[in-house]
Amino acid sequence: MHQSVDITIDGKPCQSHEISRRRLFTRVSIACAAAIAALAGVPVVGFLVAPIVRPAKAQWRSVGSVDSFRMGETVQVAFTDPSPLPWSGITAKTAAWLRRVGDNEFIAFSINCRHLGCPVRWVEGAKLFMCPCHGGAYYEDGSVAAGPPPEPLARYVVRVKDGQVEIQTSPIPLTTFKS
Ligand code: FES
Repeated sequence: MHQSVDITIDGKPCQSHEISRRRLFTRVSIACAAAIAALAGVPVVGFLVAPIVRPAKAQWRSVGSVDSFRMGETVQVAFTDPSPLPWSGITAKTAAWLRRVGDNEFIAFSINCRHLGCPVRWVEGAKLFMCPCHGGAYYEDGSVAAGPPPEPLARYVVRVKDGQVEIQTSPIPLTTFKS
């Protein structure tokens, strides 16, 4: 036989069926919160796991016509990441530092510092790539000039095709951790 229990919540008497309803609502709320958290986590997990399960293929990306770059000048060029995910949006864009060194010869440096991946900027007056995060600096050939970066800036493969400068957007190491 069912017996009602005298319980008080906030000083007011409360029946056991009210407690079960309250408990049910709590559980439904927790389940909803967990479902929302799981849905929100899908892009993050996809971002972390995609390069492992589906390595990005190297792709050529045009970054401008040969004539649009002046000899010896180092400029930033933007292109689409080699492995954009459907939800990447603007984050699918990446960049490189490009320098014209001959009629049809170019060098492209990764924009990411080899220490912890911060974007480096080219300082024309000093002829250095400077990292804003921990004072890392690189010479114009990408070798380390100062600070904690353990290795030179990574380079992209570059070619000229049909008058267009193209960068091979294969994944390159952003950072190098050394113990
Ligand atoms: S990330 Fe560039 S010096 Fe640390």
